[in-house]
Amino acid sequence: MKKVELGRTGQDVSQVSLGCMLMGTSTDEPTSARILDAYLDAGGDFLDTANCYAWWTGDSATGGESEAMLSKLLRGRRDRVFLATKVAAGITDLPAARAASRPDGTTDWAARERTYEGASAAVIEREAEASLRRLGTDHIDLYYVHVDDRSAPLEETLSALDTLVRSGKVRYIGWSNVRTWRLERIRSLALANGWASPVAVQVQHSYLRPAGADVPSVAGGELLDWLAVHQDVSLAAYSSLLRGIYDDAAYRESTQIWRSYAGPDSEARLAAVAKVASELGASGNQVALAWLLRKGVIPLIGPRTWEHYESIAPAFTLELPDELLSVLDNA
Ligand SMILES: NC(=O)c1ccc[n+]([C@@H]2O[C@H](COP(=O)([O-])OP(=O)(O)OC[C@H]3O[C@@H](n4cnc5c(N)ncnc54)[C@H](OP(=O)(O)O)[C@@H]3O)[C@@H](O)[C@H]2O)c1
Repeated sequence: MKKVELGRTGQDVSQVSLGCMLMGTSTDEPTSARILDAYLDAGGDFLDTANCYAWWTGDSATGGESEAMLSKLLRGRRDRVFLATKVAAGITDLPAARAASRPDGTTDWAARERTYEGASAAVIEREAEASLRRLGTDHIDLYYVHVDDRSAPLEETLSALDTLVRSGKVRYIGWSNVRTWRLERIRSLALANGWASPVAVQVQHSYLRPAGADVPSVAGGELLDWLAVHQDVSLAAYSSLLRGIYDDAAYRESTQIWRSYAGPDSEARLAAVAKVASELGASGNQVALAWLLRKGVIPLIGPRTWEHYESIAPAFTLELPDELLSVLDNA
C-alpha cells in the first residue's frame, strides 16, 4: 500500500486509513482482529477511532469500546501503527442522544449536537487522559477535534491541544466536521501563537458530489479549494465509499446517505464508475476508492464485516490509468 506524507510533517502514513469505529461493538473481536491483521499485512498503518465510538450501536454501548478493542488488538505492536483518535463528540446525556434518532432512520442533528461534550480545555485534558488509558498507550499520534465547538473559545481549545503536544501525549492535531472559514481561523491563530496547528482535516468525501445542503461535515468546493493551496493540511476522507453504494442500485436506494447525493450529476458519475469498473474488471466501490487515491486524498474505509474488508482490499493497489481517470474526472 502506498505511503503519503501527513500534511508537511515529514511523517509518512499508509494512504488508506482503517476506520475502527465499529470494532468492539457491531464488529466482534475475532472479526476486528482479522480485519486489522489483514490491513497491517497489506502495508496499512493508519488507524482511526474516537473516544465516543460507538455508543449508538446498542443499548449497552456507551462509547470507548473501539479504543478498548484497539488496545487489546495492538498489544505488543502499538509502534507499528499511527493512531488517530478524537475528542468533542463524547455524549453528556445518552438518553437524549439516543432519542435524537428518529424511527424513520433519520437523526435530529440539532438535538444530538446539544449532547456533545465539546472542546473546552477541561474536556480535552480529561478525555485525552481517558483515551490514553483506554488505548493502553502513552501517546496519541493524531488527535482530532471531532466536531467544531463554537461555544469554546478557539484560543482555549488550541492552547489545551498545544499543551498535550508539548507534553508528548499527542504528536499532531487535526480537526473534523469544520467549516473552511473556521479552519482558516484555527490555522492562523495556531501559527500566530506558535501553537500546534492542524495537519489533517477529516470530513465526508467521496467520488460522488453532494447534491444536498452545504454542511460542515461534507467536503464542498470551498474546502477542497482551500486544501489545494494549504498543502500542510491533509484531507482524511470518511465515508469514502458512501456506505458502499457504488455497485448495487437497489442497495443504494435503500440508504440514507444516497438522499444527499441523488440527482443527475451522481447518475452521470455512477455511469462513469460502471464503465471504468467493467474495463478494469473491478467493482464500483473499488474504483471509487482508487479515484480518491489518485487524488492524493487519505480515504478511511469502515468495514463492519470481513466480507466488506475483503471486497474493498483489492482497491489498495488498483491502478487507475490516466485515460480512465479522465473518464471519471470528466463525468
Ligand atoms: N469524523 C467523523 O465525524 C466520522 C464520521 C463517520 C466515520 N468516521 C470514520 O471513518 C471511518 C469510515 O467511515 P464509514 O464507516 O462511514 O465508511 P463507509 O465505508 O462509507 O461505510 C461503512 C459502512 O458501509 C456499509 N457497506 C456496504 N458495503 C460495504 C463494503 N463493500 N465495504 C465497506 N462498507 C460497506 C456497511 O454498512 P452496514 O453496517 O449497514 O452493513 C459499513 O458499516 C469510520 O470507521 C470512522 O473511523 C469519522
